[in-house]
Amino acid sequence: MIRNATPADLPQIRAINTHYILNTVLTFMQTPPPPGAILTKYNEIKTHGLPYFVAVDDELKYEDSSGLILGYAYLSPYRGHMLSYASTVELTLFVHPEHQSKAVGSKLLAAILKAAESGFLYHCHVYESTGSDEDQRTVFAGDNEMGVPVRNILAVMAVDPNGPDGGDALRRWYITRGFVERGRLEKIGFKNGLCMRLNQRINNRNPNPNPNPMNWHHEDWASMRFLVGAHNASGWLRSNVLLTLFLSKD
Ligand SMILES: CC(C)(COP(=O)(O)OP(=O)(O)OC[C@H]1O[C@@H](n2cnc3c(N)ncnc32)[C@H](O)[C@@H]1OP(=O)(O)O)[C@@H](O)C(=O)NCCC(=O)NCCS
Repeated sequence: MIRNATPADLPQIRAINTHYILNTVLTFMQTPPPPGAILTKYNEIKTHGLPYFVAVDDELKYEDSSGLILGYAYLSPYRGHMLSYASTVELTLFVHPEHQSKAVGSKLLAAILKAAESGFLYHCHVYESTGSDEDQRTVFAGDNEMGVPVRNILAVMAVDPNGPDGGDALRRWYITRGFVERGRLEKIGFKNGLCMRLNQRINNRNPNPNPNPMNWHHEDWASMRFLVGAHNASGWLRSNVLLTLFLSKD
């Protein structure tokens, strides 16, 4: 069942999120945020009138006896401090690691797209402050502060060299569901957790390793890739940016 998320769902959402932060490069976060930050994000999405959905199986129980959350998806502002971006929002989508490939992700994405295509999804409460320090004014996107219709959904994904088909399966997953790849950022991310694992491995071999992998030259890092690959971690990350224009007028 797909339904709106509630604050009671946030501990399970946080558990799923934590798995992907600690074990994958699919999010570039490196440390799990505290519960309060997950709640702040939830409240922000609600304030902006954007959807936050969960997929729940009530037959399966979480440790607190509530139905098990199989995945979650939401839309959030993209560069939301600038009025002109108000019609573009960013997708977040994660499926419980033990429940992948059971159509949970497809259903969550379909629910998000359906909401956007309904024509009633408005991104509200996007504003810029202007005027002098003493006399500030707030200018909202759209008329009467109701916001602007969502026209573009942006999915930003990391190509995970250890993922299915070297990360390309995820790119195809989006493309077969209506996303169009519009840009690609190379070597924009460097996930520290993976470096740390690599560093520990080198520590075992070398009593005086460079303690800060961020200082390594690119050649050094490139030469580490074999080691990294051998230990099932990844090297420099490539990030793909998939832009959907499915609600564009042109
Ligand atoms: C990618 C993801 C959203 C897909 O949702 P899902 O419920 O697992 O997959 P579905 O059952 O809806 O779709 C099945 C298809 O996805 C593919 N798939 C499943 N898991 C996948 C994964 N981790 N990466 C890429 N493709 C995957 C399957 O091969 C299958 O392909 P097919 O339709 O050609 O047979 C989900 O696996 C997930 O959350 N993965 C980890 C986090 C992630 O990558 N999130 C997106 C970050 S931008």
